[in-house]
Amino acid sequence: MWVTNAKIVGIVLGTLALYTLIANKIPQVQSEVPQALTLGANVTPEQLVAAGEKVFNGIGGCPTCHGLGTRAPNLLTDEKGTGPIGVRCAKREPGKSCKQYLYESLDNPTAYVVSGYQPIMPVMTKQLSPEQVWSVIAFLESQGGTVDVTADDIAKSKPAAGAPTPGASSGSTGGAFAGGSTDPKTPTRRPSSRPPGASPATSSTGRAR
Ligand code: HEC
Repeated sequence: MWVTNAKIVGIVLGTLALYTLIANKIPQVQSEVPQALTLGANVTPEQLVAAGEKVFNGIGGCPTCHGLGTRAPNLLTDEKGTGPIGVRCAKREPGKSCKQYLYESLDNPTAYVVSGYQPIMPVMTKQLSPEQVWSVIAFLESQGGTVDVTADDIAKSKPAAGAPTPGASSGSTGGAFAGGSTDPKTPTRRPSSRPPGASPATSSTGRAR
């Protein structure tokens, strides 16, 4: 009797061992979880551009409006003879460099509204981290222009240590896209008429600054 039992135990253990062996031979497949972007102090322009392209097409949701050429200006191709965004960015506002103009477009989109379009662009600095914002700027500059974004730019627009970073958490920040809404009517923009320093309590945007 105990011989039969021993045989059964042996077969069970043998089978387990075999499958464990097979399981360990199979290469581990890792699912791509979107990660908070971390760029070091010596990040290269190429790394910024590569990261920016992912933000542009991914979490930034830019092609939703900018991919059609009707709702928003083309960013990857020529726009009505003014050239790609990396070229025309320096010519939009007198006295503003390409980098300054692009940052303004993402931080305060209503400050300069491209003629022929509605001011529907969401405030991207509210829903993207400084890393994501600056890498997307580098990506836009690379469209026909010179990439001059550095790690310094990222460091300068980082909130004080301890403050929550938008875009770093998974969707609890309530940004237009983080909240799942792509409706341009969602009031995500800060009224441009509000003087700087006015109480945020009176703002309907909930932007606490
Ligand atoms: C809800 C639609 C919408 C989304 C989403 C959107 N934009 Fe825009 N964007 C616009 C519109 C409309 C304009 C033109 C009017 C204006 O200047 O505000 C514009 C203008 C711009 C400009 C200025 C273009 C020029 O020719 O001077 C830049 C740069 C820009 N967007 C970048 C982005 C980036 C980068 C993203 C993604 C992170 C993005 N936008 C997402 C609607 C959108």
